[in-house]
Amino acid sequence: MDKADLFSRPTRPENPPHDPSHLPTRSRRSSSGSPLAPYVLDQLPADLTAVAHGRSTYEQLAVKQCRVLRGLGDDTLPAGDSSSASLLQLDLLFMLNGYLPAGPTAFPRPLLDAIAAQSARFPALDPHMSYELLIDVNCAEWERTGEIRVFSEGELGLLERDFYLGHRLAEPSVWTAFDRLRSLVLEPDAVDTAASLDEALRGLDDFRTYMAQYGRLPTEAFHAFRPYHMGYPGGPRGASGAFMPSVQLLELVLLPPTTQYGVYLDQSLPYFPTWSRPLVTEWRERSEKGDNVVQAVLGGRLKLDHRAVTALLAVIDRFTDFRMVHLGITRKALPEAFPPEAGPTRRDILAQPGERDILDPDDPGTSGFSVHNVLTNAVHRLLTARRRIAASSVAPGTD
Ligand code: HEM
Repeated sequence: MDKADLFSRPTRPENPPHDPSHLPTRSRRSSSGSPLAPYVLDQLPADLTAVAHGRSTYEQLAVKQCRVLRGLGDDTLPAGDSSSASLLQLDLLFMLNGYLPAGPTAFPRPLLDAIAAQSARFPALDPHMSYELLIDVNCAEWERTGEIRVFSEGELGLLERDFYLGHRLAEPSVWTAFDRLRSLVLEPDAVDTAASLDEALRGLDDFRTYMAQYGRLPTEAFHAFRPYHMGYPGGPRGASGAFMPSVQLLELVLLPPTTQYGVYLDQSLPYFPTWSRPLVTEWRERSEKGDNVVQAVLGGRLKLDHRAVTALLAVIDRFTDFRMVHLGITRKALPEAFPPEAGPTRRDILAQPGERDILDPDDPGTSGFSVHNVLTNAVHRLLTARRRIAASSVAPGTD
């Protein structure tokens, strides 16, 4: 799948919408290792649509799903390999998150028990729907088998599929940017500084283009599946892009963490994919000690010629572009989380006296953080870092 195909499949002549082979819900048994895959892939989206349209109730859904669980018998908890275990966990949590629009009181007890038993048996698995399960595990299975779990039916399901795939496809580009800057910080004398920054810039160009594709996702479609991603008061945080690790690794290798960003990292660590948690911790510690590009340049440890300064400013600008495009798309999708006047623009954000409280309870997003504050703070930090680098390149050697 190319990024140009995201959110365009339903209207493409070569993929006519009436051709069922292109639809994510299929009436054939899955090759997946999870015994719940046939139900979750083939029936869950239609069951949730029936509830959403009032043709069925959550009570009827629970009766059906408990029958499905009973029908599995001991298969519910196969001894199987870890990839089957994570797919089964994904299926159980897809079933559970289907009840989120009704609230956690609607969760069926046998389903909660099956999740608890599976989590006890495989403690490395997230016991709640996480970014890793929803995006990484789900999309890896799509890459392997062409099957992907979605909550929505038909063409809405295709848009939802692309919402997940776009996150997965975009991440390697931002990882490249992190990796190039990491080599600059760790071995500044061993790499060609300007060439590394140019490569990071190309990664971020690509990353921003992925983000821009999301402008094609109709707001109604986003609102159809977003309720299934949310957290709930007292429960775990929801599955959000806020827990995509490479973006935060890039930030850490680029600039030192601020107080608010420290709060964000403290709260987010258990929600990042398992593999990334030690790396985020490592780069948080390094960055706090000054091992980041901005402090290395300001402190004179990383010497940049004119071309390299230009490239570094372009890297910061492109990262900011990603965040501004993301902000614009989010504002369109969730206008209630933003003040009614236009913006916020870069100028507005830079003019803020500082970062704002991300734990402010007004308009918490999927991640549970204040949508407005978490997104504008992220831009604020980049604009502040840019201003410092630009100032130091006029008067080199200042920190
Ligand atoms: C329709 C598209 C999207 C919407 C409406 C959206 C919405 C949001 C919201 C509301 C937040 C704040 C935290 C939360 O409430 O969960 C957030 C955070 C975030 N999202 Fe998205 N998002 C979209 C697509 C994407 C994509 C495609 C990516 C990456 C490829 C992404 C990456 C992030 C990141 C990294 C954060 C944390 C803030 C930052 O570091 O910049 N989002 N998103």
